[in-house]
Amino acid sequence: MFDKETYLRRRRALRAKIKSGLILFPANGESPVNYPANGYHFRQDSNFLYYFGLNCPNLVGVIDVEADTSCLYGDDCTLDDIIWMGNQPTLREMGERVGVQHTFTMLELQLMMTMAIRKGRRIHFLPPYRESNVLLLKSLLGIKSDFIGNYVSEELIKAVVSMREVKEPQEIEEIERACETGYLMHTTAMKMCRPGIVEREIAGTIEGIALSKGAGVSFISIVSQNGETLHNHYYGNKLRPGRMLLIDAGAETDMNYCSDFTRTLPVTGRFTEQQKAVYDIVLAANNRTFELIAPGVTYQSIHLEAARVIAEGLKGLGLMKGSVDDIVENGAYALFMPHGLGHQMGLDVHDMEDLGEKYVGYNEETERSTMFGIGSLRMGRKLKEGHVLTVEPGIYFIPALIDKWRGEKINAAFLNYETIEKYLDFGGIRLEDDALVLAKGCRLLGKKRIPITAEEVEEAMRG
Ligand code: GLY
Ligand code: MN
Repeated sequence: MFDKETYLRRRRALRAKIKSGLILFPANGESPVNYPANGYHFRQDSNFLYYFGLNCPNLVGVIDVEADTSCLYGDDCTLDDIIWMGNQPTLREMGERVGVQHTFTMLELQLMMTMAIRKGRRIHFLPPYRESNVLLLKSLLGIKSDFIGNYVSEELIKAVVSMREVKEPQEIEEIERACETGYLMHTTAMKMCRPGIVEREIAGTIEGIALSKGAGVSFISIVSQNGETLHNHYYGNKLRPGRMLLIDAGAETDMNYCSDFTRTLPVTGRFTEQQKAVYDIVLAANNRTFELIAPGVTYQSIHLEAARVIAEGLKGLGLMKGSVDDIVENGAYALFMPHGLGHQMGLDVHDMEDLGEKYVGYNEETERSTMFGIGSLRMGRKLKEGHVLTVEPGIYFIPALIDKWRGEKINAAFLNYETIEKYLDFGGIRLEDDALVLAKGCRLLGKKRIPITAEEVEEAMRG
């Protein structure tokens, strides 16, 4: 964890943004796989980590705005826990590490909350995404589970987003560490990729690297020669010559800061002419995005600029027709890139997605589009110095989507199906890097860029 001053400062800053009441931060609990003692890998709630820093389950952090205090609630280990898990720090010791002097049991939390509700105090909490925390809030607040969402504090969401979205220098250092691991994962995959190897052999190896360097992967890795399926989590295919292997994978540091990178490799080690032509368009869209990222520019407008590069390139290959302006305005490029250009990244790989994209990626100034494709853009609003973003354009040939658009004549004026048909078994290409918004422009995160030009990738695969 960071030093205790970090958490004291963050809680002070948060208190200053909230008018009155109690702010509740429930930590996550353990999640059983098939019986209570066999749990999934424990992952702490990121908001709890940000303000209370402790990577330990079953705690609740409370900030009392009027009293100007922070409290930690939880139950110390029993002898039975110690027999199975070894000695654990006491709640008091854990509190001291993050600058919290007041520690209490979970029963005391229930009593304190009952009093606060009786006094009519405002209780702030964030949208819970785990059922166990819905049930905790239900029991603390006496609200039916189905209605918890109605009582979430918008004031708290906005305050937390305003803090977490601007990364501190020490957070950037952590993200850089996660990027280093990402570099190792992807360059290892480049060395392993060849015809005959099964996707899971590569997935297992790179996930092992993430675990050996920190807290494991930052999301379920995508390692697939069917890269046209955007979130393909199947690893059972043997790699075939002529296919491309799409790897979208990142790591978490032991402090749970994330990286997220995508590379697309020719299984044989050499791109075909057709593959390279499409690859270079995606690369151009990625590079163009880096030229445009700067404070004050909306990411929505940059998504559209990347779309222009894609439209221009696909026109050059004879897959699209008409004016680039019209293609972009009508969202016709989304047949080939049906997702957004990127998202924020930090303690979560899709940072703060639990708080709601309408607060994280949009605001009163920038409204989310409802158009297919750009409607999936998670981060659309104006960029600020200190934002961390992914840059992940792609081009995919999704036969079911192509069939639908063709059948329903969607954007038919811009699409050349005679040529598109020659690409139906092409697969997909995505190239993703991570960027830090600076006072002017941006910079790539990670010491070295993971090989990305077709030549660099082929070279790394030979190595
Ligand atoms: N890298 C996975 C995603 O951004 O959804
Ligand atoms: Mn991503």
